Amino acid sequence: MNDLLPAVIANLKAHKTWQEVSDWISVVGPKTRDFAGTVIFCPSTPFLAVAFGKVKSEQWKLQIGAQDVSRFGEGAYTGEAAASQIADICQYVLIGHSERRKYFREDDDILWQKVKNAAASHIEPIFCVQDENTKIPQEVKIAAYEPTFAIGTQEADSPANAKKVAREIKKKGDLTVLYGGSVSGDNVSQFLSEGLIDGVLVGATNSLDPQKFVRILESI
Ligand code: PGA
Repeated sequence: MNDLLPAVIANLKAHKTWQEVSDWISVVGPKTRDFAGTVIFCPSTPFLAVAFGKVKSEQWKLQIGAQDVSRFGEGAYTGEAAASQIADICQYVLIGHSERRKYFREDDDILWQKVKNAAASHIEPIFCVQDENTKIPQEVKIAAYEPTFAIGTQEADSPANAKKVAREIKKKGDLTVLYGGSVSGDNVSQFLSEGLIDGVLVGATNSLDPQKFVRILESI
């Protein structure tokens, strides 16, 4: 991952139709060509394959990530997408997002199974933690510090505190650490200065509008 930093992730959550996803890629994709790091685009599961098809023959620094993966393997699990099914189109998957923990009651057991399945299928888990005390499975190489008070609120954590938490998280192992929660074109460079935070996870607040997302890339 290190030669791909800074990593900037767009988590579209359950937003946008396929046409809107396609338009988003058409705006953002060309802007990633000269970006120093990597952009990881996470649309809803039904759009992963078409998004991959749209970016794969381009010289863009835009990779595809999933927002979730099944805790089960392939089998009789209606509605699920197994890691082995999305492995050809996704290099990354978000696991442990606070919305999954809260609305889908995903606990450590479930999250550990998801991480294991992703890793076994060679998909890099991006493991979201709510603070420096959140447990991190040992297979994880990328952690995203996402304090719940900052998600979708336009009230980002202070860069100083986020760096302090990133430093604590890095003590747990050889981890790339991202920050997420109301990241914008105005504050992104403050999070990335000093090199403690290796990238940002941008959710609905500033990723849905492709122009706002491009502004984040341009501010780095
Ligand atoms: P936000 O969301 O950028 O809208 O605050 C971050 C996230 O949920 O990952």
